[in-house]
Amino acid sequence: MTNADLEKLVDTTDEWITTRTGIKERRIARDMATSDMAVEACKRAMEMAETKGEEIDVLVAATVTPDYKLPSLGCVIQEKLSLPNAVAFDVVSACTGFINGLTIANAYIETGSYKKIMVVGVEKLSTFVNYRDRNTCILFGDGAGAAIFAPSHNGRGVQSTFMKSDGSMREMLWSKSGGAAFPVTEEFNFDGTDKVMMNGSDLFKVAVKEMGNAATEVMQKAGVDSSEISIIIPHQANIRIIEALAKRLKLDMNKVFLNIEKYGNTSAASVPLALDEANRQGRINEGDYVLMVAFGGGLIWGSALIKW
Ligand code: COA
Repeated sequence: MTNADLEKLVDTTDEWITTRTGIKERRIARDMATSDMAVEACKRAMEMAETKGEEIDVLVAATVTPDYKLPSLGCVIQEKLSLPNAVAFDVVSACTGFINGLTIANAYIETGSYKKIMVVGVEKLSTFVNYRDRNTCILFGDGAGAAIFAPSHNGRGVQSTFMKSDGSMREMLWSKSGGAAFPVTEEFNFDGTDKVMMNGSDLFKVAVKEMGNAATEVMQKAGVDSSEISIIIPHQANIRIIEALAKRLKLDMNKVFLNIEKYGNTSAASVPLALDEANRQGRINEGDYVLMVAFGGGLIWGSALIKW
């Protein structure tokens, strides 16, 4: 879906969207459920890691757009992918979902609870976006990205993680109706409150501040200076947020991986999609410090530093 397509739906322009967000296109999954996208991403991760379904101990599905309210998306993916020895479950941390999943995977590995953990960040936000609201519909797209975590003994792998949330700001980015607090009943008038609602300008300020703090936190924890970071994989929400973050961290923009132009904001899929593209493009080499940082509805934010 291009900016020109959106011009036909709401009062907006390609110029406004491009200059305010950096987004030109987003992908819309027309004939696929969220689980179908996740299965595709997981298969490619398993292929790259030369891992069979039987070897996966845990599947963490990070999403706010599961196929069903019950059961979890994780259990649907487990059946479609055939992961007979795994426990599968979801984490609901919006755009920070993949980093939350990574943090869980890392903790399981550190404690020796499980050995092979697949984390998939996946969203079908097109089912959740109000295409009458120009404040939000221009931002979001569909996508999936997955990674497999396993123990390493040579100093490589996850060096440090950081997670923080503040539920008092939850109404900056939320979907009010359709849950147990405000169920969709026969009287519901479909006024858009069951879709994504957002206070963009307030969110923008918190995002820059807290993503900056989260990134600094993981570097300090690992004793790594920002000059040693080879590549930063930020959540792709808005090019101006990413530029402000890079400035705050004193990181050159050529160290920042960007693909927002093609996908828009894909929430939990954003970081793993960008990580995978950077990796397949040869932008990440063995021994590189890779910094991932994200921010999203909750509000919840987090970061992870990996030695590749
Ligand atoms: N096309 C044209 N005009 C639009 C528009 C659109 N798609 N969306 C909003 N506008 C208008 C607004 O109505 C407003 O008009 P007004 O001044 O007449 O009231 C004007 O543009 C400026 O709106 P504002 O919200 O101040 O713009 P902004 O510079 O803050 O940019 C966002 C808006 C949404 C792009 C920006 O705030 C943002 O990216 N915030 C973070 C959102 C985010 O990342 N969310 C997910 C977090 S994980």
